[in-house]
Amino acid sequence: MANSFENSMNDVNVISEDLDLLHIEVDTDLTENRPDRENAVCSKNVLRKQRHWERQLTAKKSKRKKERQRRKLNREQSDGDADRPQHTKRVLKAITKERLAEAQSTGPRLCVDLSMTDCMSDKEISRLSGQLRRLYGSNKKASRPFHLFLTDLREDSRLYRECVRMNDGFLNYAMDLMEESCLDLFPSVTIVYLTPDAEQALQSVDPGKVYVLGGLVDESIQKKLSLGRASELSVLTARLPIEEYMIKKNNPKNFHSKILAINQVFDILLTFCDTGSWTEAFRLWFPLGKGYTVDPNTSKSQS
Ligand SMILES: C[S@@+](CC[C@H](N)C(=O)[O-])C[C@H]1O[C@@H](n2cnc3c(N)ncnc32)[C@H](O)[C@@H]1O
Repeated sequence: MANSFENSMNDVNVISEDLDLLHIEVDTDLTENRPDRENAVCSKNVLRKQRHWERQLTAKKSKRKKERQRRKLNREQSDGDADRPQHTKRVLKAITKERLAEAQSTGPRLCVDLSMTDCMSDKEISRLSGQLRRLYGSNKKASRPFHLFLTDLREDSRLYRECVRMNDGFLNYAMDLMEESCLDLFPSVTIVYLTPDAEQALQSVDPGKVYVLGGLVDESIQKKLSLGRASELSVLTARLPIEEYMIKKNNPKNFHSKILAINQVFDILLTFCDTGSWTEAFRLWFPLGKGYTVDPNTSKSQS
């Protein structure tokens, strides 16, 4: 009797090893005493949720792909690649380096205020470091770059570590990494804090001013943080002139937002400085999914 029990246990072990080798997992749920109907409902729910996530993921991926293609096209258009002499990579690198060095002494000045990162989650920190990488990438490609400052950036902060980890060559970026705040570096009367909640619309970019972007991401929509920060610093504020040059676009979710990521605001500023046209800047860079489109009436009067 004991022998036949031992034999059957051996058989079970051998079968289990075989299944392991075949990478077949035995569903432990089946061994539980759950009624079949409950199991079926449960797995139906799981499947439905899985399908829902898969659909969302696919939609997100295709939206990102479209946005990437649009950005690439915009860059090619604004570069006017076809008319430019073709340079080798080494020459292009040298030209970019020279242009950035010049911007650091004569370019328009822009700070990213990183004093608010303590209240951000790790995911938000990682997204912010990606946005800083894109912002710097746009400045490198610009024909007239800005002099960039990252202010309130402490070496022992999560953001600093994430930027060093994720952004290749971060410590060699041609921008000033400062522990001080923008107010320690520039007279308060020269500072214009850009915030979507400002009353005044930005009319133009004044080379005598210092523009500040709030280093925030809108993952956990915290309203009016940058407006609050600006009033704490007692500096002027301005918003992008979205309502002056754009109109709402119909969309199935009736979604309309004027809050952009820092790199998106920066792309708009760069193109405005280059062309002097808000219409052109919004047409090229205003994200498609925000529910706005350039107002055809203002665009006629601008061109
Ligand atoms: C994602 S937004 C942060 C929005 C956040 N809820 C806040 O408190 O402002 C990041 C930064 O981009 C800039 N920004 C975004 N949209 C803007 C707009 N429409 N006009 C001016 N600045 C804008 C601001 O500097 C803002 O602090």
